[in-house]
Amino acid sequence: MNKIKSGIIFLMLLLPLSRIISQESLLINVYNRSVYSLDGEWKFIVDPYENGYYNYRLEAFDTKENPGKGAYFLNAKPENKSELVEYDFDKSETIKVPGDWNSQYEKLFYYEGTIWYKKSFDYNKSNNENRVFLYFEAVNYKAEVYLNGKKIGTHIGGFTPFNFEVTSLLKEKDNFLILKVDNKRIKDGVPTVNTDWWNYGGITRSVKLIETSQNFIRDYRIQLNSKNNKEILGYIQLDGQNINEKKVKLSIPELGIENEIVTDNNGLAQIKFISKKINYWSPGNPYLYTLTLSSDKDKITDQIGFRTITTQGQNILLNGESVYLRGICIHEENPIRGGRANSLEDAKLLLTWAKELNCNFVRLAHYPHNEHMARLADKMGIMVWEEIPVYWTISWENQETYNNAENQLTEVISRDKNRASVIIWSMANETPTSEPRTAFLTNLAKKARKLDPSRLISAALEQNNFEGNPAIQTLDDPFAEVVDVLSFNQYIGWYNGLPAKCGEITWKITQDKPVLISEFGAGAKYGFHGDSLTRWTEEYQEYLYTETLKMINNISQLRGFTPWILVDFRSPRRHLPGIQDGWNRKGLISDKGEKKKAFFILKEFYDKKAAQKK
Ligand code: GCU
Repeated sequence: MNKIKSGIIFLMLLLPLSRIISQESLLINVYNRSVYSLDGEWKFIVDPYENGYYNYRLEAFDTKENPGKGAYFLNAKPENKSELVEYDFDKSETIKVPGDWNSQYEKLFYYEGTIWYKKSFDYNKSNNENRVFLYFEAVNYKAEVYLNGKKIGTHIGGFTPFNFEVTSLLKEKDNFLILKVDNKRIKDGVPTVNTDWWNYGGITRSVKLIETSQNFIRDYRIQLNSKNNKEILGYIQLDGQNINEKKVKLSIPELGIENEIVTDNNGLAQIKFISKKINYWSPGNPYLYTLTLSSDKDKITDQIGFRTITTQGQNILLNGESVYLRGICIHEENPIRGGRANSLEDAKLLLTWAKELNCNFVRLAHYPHNEHMARLADKMGIMVWEEIPVYWTISWENQETYNNAENQLTEVISRDKNRASVIIWSMANETPTSEPRTAFLTNLAKKARKLDPSRLISAALEQNNFEGNPAIQTLDDPFAEVVDVLSFNQYIGWYNGLPAKCGEITWKITQDKPVLISEFGAGAKYGFHGDSLTRWTEEYQEYLYTETLKMINNISQLRGFTPWILVDFRSPRRHLPGIQDGWNRKGLISDKGEKKKAFFILKEFYDKKAAQKK
């Protein structure tokens, strides 16, 4: 690729995000706000030919000139008996929200396309002056949102929250909320068409109305200065009219903090104060402070842990001390119930299993998980790697693809920036190196550091033979120069030779940075036993773990790893009858919650690592 073209690509990637994605700035900390849940039974219509959106000439009803009025499935009650209407939401089937559609109806198990959702509800504001926002925790993949027959917006990206103000649209009676949800995989999407996970579609997480005062606290960041662990830094952003020169109060009683700050012309108040007696958050001491922010008529509480996370040479420092990350990868799936995980109970199931392994770290692969995970990890003392689904062969030279990735990154950072457990933002997973790809990832890293300079940046990088020698592996990925933590997936003994090959490989990492191994593993069907060289037996998986742990323990810069993966998970790429049957079997736990032999190999290693620390 010549320099000029890559330079153009670089410039293209800087175009303003606003031209591509249409929704409003996020409200954060919805868990502690006054909400009205819209979860429960919704009506739905399966629309594979999208004829609720396009006429037979494939012209969208939903035009700019005629937004919302056009989409056909908009609950248009026939004006008269002779009017032709070929759908009826009220007589249609119902589906649960939150929840993917694939695991709710056998006929929708493989469905990829459009489904229309409808929810009817009444709503009485507690105070006529108040404002109301419609908040979606996630919808996979593209959502077109209509309220009372009017289009209110679009969101692209299946794993991050979005909201729209609906104050002027809501009625006391007979509101009807309609969504067109389309989970079709697209080449220029994020992720693209090829993934090793199930493409669960639908309103996969909760939907709620959030009522706020006229002027309210929309966003804030309150974190420890990573360069000075006595200083708490951040900001509070008001939303509304006349939000300039407004007093905002921050109260952290246990630190004896009752600070009053005045907002600037944009309703923004900067936070910066010293506290000498902070009880630092860590896995061994997951201490969270209850803080209250108040301004005008708004008051909101949150539970925030204070800690620093930095790197120094080849070490990862938590509160200034080198830490070893005893991790595990997790997909967002409750395999026992089936489908996308989305509740606090699901988070407890997955993170309790991680704790049983004696983990102090989880890699939430390969996309932002629901907010319960980071909030529960805060409480349980588990550090977290969060990732956006820039996965495999993304359209690196497509501006809309970049803006979509950047928007998803912005939304997950906005949502979780106050979570002490979150220590790493991952830009990508196993992406083939090229100049456009490295420009794309470098811009994402720049954006992440701008939004949140307090956390570490990583990605599952590419590795290769060192100077052509297959017995020595190295990281020759140009993005290694950009990240704070070097991470890579390696499958020696599964995709590359047999487990004994681990004894023939050494690693030569030339960059002076900490190293994490972000994946290794082998498939095993729970209950299938045999000798350690019979693929798919628990013994093979156990042997691979034993040999891999020996190999990686010799990597001097290694500061932790996250084996692939905690639990078997559904994947359309895994076909072997009687063994896979549509499941990726690299879990240490089966899809029925049964622990395989390798689970105990890893647990023993982590128990020893944890004991060394003490
Ligand atoms: C890859 C990829 C995972 C995938 C795994 C596997 O490294 O990152 O998403 O599931 O390997 O092949 O099982």
